[in-house]
Formats: sequence, C-alpha cells, structure tokens
Amino acid sequence: MTLKTNPYKGTRDLFPPDKRVLDYLFSTMKRTAQSFSYEPYDGPLLEDIELYRSKSGEELVNDQIYSFHDKGERFVAIRPEMTPTLARMVAQIHRKTPLPIRWFSIPNLYRYERPQRGRLREHWQFNIDIFGAPENMGEVEVLQIVLALMKNFGADQSTFEILINDRRIVNFVFGKLLKLDQDKSSRLYKMVDKYKKISPDAFEEGLSQIGLDGVSKENLFRYLALDSFDAVFEFLEQMGGLEEKNNLIGFYKIVKNLKIDPYLRYDPTIVRGVDYYTGIVFEVFDKHPDNRRAICGGGAYANLLQIFNGPPLHGVGFGLGDVTLKDFLVSHKLLPDFSQNKVDVYLSAQTSEGLPRVMELGHRIRSRYQDIKVLTELRPINAKKAFSNGKKYKAKFLALIGERELSNNEVQIKNSKDKDSISMKLSNVKDIIHFFHAKNPSNDYLDDSEDANDKEKS
Ligand code: HAM
Repeated sequence: MTLKTNPYKGTRDLFPPDKRVLDYLFSTMKRTAQSFSYEPYDGPLLEDIELYRSKSGEELVNDQIYSFHDKGERFVAIRPEMTPTLARMVAQIHRKTPLPIRWFSIPNLYRYERPQRGRLREHWQFNIDIFGAPENMGEVEVLQIVLALMKNFGADQSTFEILINDRRIVNFVFGKLLKLDQDKSSRLYKMVDKYKKISPDAFEEGLSQIGLDGVSKENLFRYLALDSFDAVFEFLEQMGGLEEKNNLIGFYKIVKNLKIDPYLRYDPTIVRGVDYYTGIVFEVFDKHPDNRRAICGGGAYANLLQIFNGPPLHGVGFGLGDVTLKDFLVSHKLLPDFSQNKVDVYLSAQTSEGLPRVMELGHRIRSRYQDIKVLTELRPINAKKAFSNGKKYKAKFLALIGERELSNNEVQIKNSKDKDSISMKLSNVKDIIHFFHAKNPSNDYLDDSEDANDKEKS
C-alpha cells in the first residue's frame, strides 16, 4: 500500500514558512498578554469527556468532539476548547491564590467540523481569562486586551468591530417576554446564533416549530432589530427589563469613559454557542467582506467552577483562533512577509580551505551574541553566488573569505544596504560586530562593557 503524504483532513502540516507566521502570531499574543501581566499556563490535550458534557453546549459535545475509550475503559475527549480545563485548574488553586487570577494560553484544539475558510479540525487558540475581578472591570480589561492585540497586529477601527450582547438580556427576552420554557429557549438560542447565516424562510419555519407567533413573535423581531446601545436601553425600559438595562449601563459607562465604545456595537444575535456564559458576551468581527466570521469570541461566566463543587467565581475571557486571525491579517494586508528565512549575517568562503575559517567565525559570533542569526554556507561558492544567496536570505551583512582574505587572515564584510565593504582581521570579532552595529544601530546586541574574550583571542 502506498501512503498518501497529505495530513489528516482539516489539519495542517506546518512547513517553515507557515511556522514562521504562526510564531509571529504567538509572539504577538504572548507580548500582549504579558503587557497586561497575564501569566502563561497549559493543560493536557486529553480530558475526561464529562468535563465538556455539562457546560460546553450540545453542538460541541454531540457533533464536534473527538472521543474514544482508552485501554482502561475511560471515556476520553481531545480538548475542543480550553475553558473547561482552565476552570478545572483554577478550581484546584483559587483558595490559595490572590485574586484576580490572570492567565493566558495558546493551546491547539480539535473539533470535528466541515473544513472550510476559517474553520479547520485543528486550530490554535489564544485564550485570555481573568477570575475574581469585580463585575464589569474584568470584562473591560479583557476587551482592552483584544484592542491592544489588534493594534499590535497593525489593525485599526476600519478593519474590525466588537459585537456585544448580554446573556442576561437574552434570558430576559426569551424567558420573561416570550415565556419560553428551557427546551424551547435553547432551541431559539441556536436559531438566533445562526440568524445571519440562515434564510428568513428557514428562520420562520424554526419559529413555527417552536410555536412562536402573535405578540411573542413581534417582540422577538423587535429585539432582533436592535442595533445600538441606545436602542437596547430604550427597549429594556419599555419592556420592564430594568435590572438588565442597569447591568448593561454599568458596563457601557466604563467603556465610554475609556473611549473604547467606538469599537463596540450592540448586536442582539451574539448569544455564543456554549452554555456557560452568564453576562456580557462578545465576538470580534472582521469588516472585510470575504471574512464575515468571528475572529474571536468570549464573555463572562459566573458558575463554571460549580461543576467541581467550587464557589461561583466570576470569570471572563475569550478565545481567538489562528486560522481566522491569519485570514484577517492577509485580507487587510497586515501580515509581514514570512516567505523566506531571514538571517542577519551570511558567511561564505570561495575555497574549501576557507570553509573552516567561516565556520570558526560563525561560531565565535554566535557564542558572543546569541541574538544574531548567522548562516554559514557549507560549500565553497563564488562571490556572485554569495551575493545572490545573501539577497535570498535578506541578509543584513555578508562576510566573505576569498583567496586574498585567506592568505591575510581576514574577512571581507559587506553591508547589504549601502554596499559598504571593509576587510577585517578574522580574529577581531568585536570590531566585526562594531561594524554591524554602526551600520544597523537598531540592533542592540552590542555590549561595550566587556571585552576580555576578544582581547584574549586577538
Ligand atoms: P469559540 O467561539 O468556540 O469560543 O472559539 C473562539 C474562536 O476560536 C473563534 O472565534 C474562532 O476564531 C476560533 N475557532 C473556533 N473553532 C474553530 C475551528 N474549527 N477552526 C478554526 N478556528 C476556530 C471558545 O472556544 C471559548 N472557550 C472561548 C473562551 C475563553 N471563552 C472564555 N474564555
């Protein structure tokens, strides 16, 4: 049998150019999380399936989970999301840890989905969560992180928006206004979640199956037409949802004060697919017409620790997927070019006698300045080929050892930008690095304070 080389459906092989992109996404995520003093955590890829059964929502558990019985007859799931693992971990330590707990993670997750643009079976998801923050403050901090992250990727208000709703408002409309029981309410949740994706006829059909008509149906459509914070405040006032109105006003006042309200839009169809959310919920949407998909989703959840007999500890967080983020960055031309491995210094020799010299020089540069990316050519090549390779690797500097340099114990260093070139003694790594630095002052690898090493060798 000949095996196919392609990866399992809906997963990706990450070749170096793909991995360079992913590393860039991850490092920007980490930098952003750490700038808010969030700490990294991680958990296992496998969990007891029960962890997802109670709160992750029907779609995730019934249709999308990868599960199997292990050799010890335990029913195991591959994690489709990180939040239940996080809650399990927080349940172990929250009594002995100062609150709020601010954590982040970038796990890979598996969901059995129909692969399509923005949806795969394996994706990486940046998770930010805060536990034990005062009501609305955690919500707002988490939104500030979303905005900082998008800014760090170069995105501005013209490229994305954050759609906001509050689960307590949805519960008020479905429960108090429409008087739906638990079962009908969760059916309607699912329909509203897909409201923008399904046809009006299919939506109407769903409503009649639930038995929604007359005034209830009118009220539902009034709710679904709300398109601003002011409109929802007025609606709640008229319908007697004063507590729900005050909750949202409390949140809105803070975001307005912080001037982040222009990024936010009230959207009644944001209800979130999973069951555990209890307050503010949100999704970040790409404004590009090719990607009308959520880049990120999250919200507040008060009771997740209760499945471990823990207290109601207020949690807020979001998950942001690498697939949708990359689509977003590509569509808005915000993704830097990672097609080629970039090096700082490209070393080559024209003769095989020169090769040990360039390898030795590479070794000495690297052992003193670990942040410099040095690539050593392992075969002798002529100067023309060395220049074209240097270009290919976008090398800032070329170091060449030809016949002349070999007999003089020198190396010729060329700066790719201004083509300036200088010959230096091979033993004098410090001067060589000085030359790099003088030509490229943004590189901070030069430490002038010490020099025993070089003196000793020269
Ligand atoms: P979620 O809405 O299921 O939330 O996923 C969050 C984000 O992960 C989505 O907006 C999307 O960018 C990405 N994503 C989800 N499924 C896929 C997929 N099959 N392929 C590619 N990307 C995908 C959660 O998972 C919550 N646990 C987030 C959270 C953290 N809530 C609070 N804390």
